[in-house]
Amino acid sequence: MKVVIPAAGLGTRFLPATKSMPKEMLPVLNRPVIQYVVEEAIAGGADDITIVTGRGKRAVEDHFDHNPDLGGSGTRASLRELEEVMGKAAFHFVRQRTPRGLADAIACAEHHVGNEPFGVLLGDSIHVSETPLLTQLRTTFERMGGKASVVALERVPRDKLSSYGVAGGTPVDLQVIRVERLVEKPKPADAPGDTALTGAYYLTPAIFGAIRATPPDRKGEVQLTDALARLVATEGVYGLIFEGRRYDTGTPLLWLEANVRFALRDPAYRDRVIEIFRESTRAESATRPSEAPAP
Ligand code: UTP
Repeated sequence: MKVVIPAAGLGTRFLPATKSMPKEMLPVLNRPVIQYVVEEAIAGGADDITIVTGRGKRAVEDHFDHNPDLGGSGTRASLRELEEVMGKAAFHFVRQRTPRGLADAIACAEHHVGNEPFGVLLGDSIHVSETPLLTQLRTTFERMGGKASVVALERVPRDKLSSYGVAGGTPVDLQVIRVERLVEKPKPADAPGDTALTGAYYLTPAIFGAIRATPPDRKGEVQLTDALARLVATEGVYGLIFEGRRYDTGTPLLWLEANVRFALRDPAYRDRVIEIFRESTRAESATRPSEAPAP
């Protein structure tokens, strides 16, 4: 399966860390976010991965290449793991010259993808699930007749919907909806439903025509949500409320949350991290006069 990973965005919500460093290379524990994304793609059946990069993103390409300065291939276990990942798929890099939105980034991979359905995973979002997310999406694609794109959805509280692309439609079963409306970052009153796009897709090649037909928004970006909305009216789009959890790492707080949650699940970090929290909460309350016990 071909998979496209857009990683050319500017990461403005994470400045100044992302001034010269790709946000996709920020680490969650000891691995850059994009390594998790690539591992997720391979677990879901990707054997051909196109990463869309741009200015200042050389570190992404270098990460998936050999580094002769570090000695023979993967002498350390952590590097061996990465080399194994690299051996499981063909890697391609295409450049988005100007970061003009997610849809524009995906269009940069059109030539490489050709005329077949393909997966898309965002370079700054990690999905954790029992069954790899791309497998869930592809299975749904086939179950729904193999002709319409499938987007991953998660339920989001109403007051948070305005930060997401939001989908509304008719339920097909407990997990799948036939999408009828898609709105990017709606005002609460305009949200077409309570499920949001999480940044994982299984798309038909018709998306490329839809992207070409989609005008840029006020910020000059071509939104994938708007291009998908065009497909709703033609070949249709299904939404899968996927099994698993998404970790967006695009802001300092979200990135910190991903680190804490991953550390708490990992025996190598867990106990010490809990200790650090206990110690610092104790120290924190000791310095707060209002919480001091009454004399
Ligand atoms: P985001 O919208 O979260 O990334 O896109 P951004 O634009 O870099 O973030 P901010 O808002 O400025 O902080 C999600 C994914 O799509 C890629 C990003 O690199 C990220 O992995 N993307 C986004 C592109 O490849 N090209 C773009 O023009 C925009």
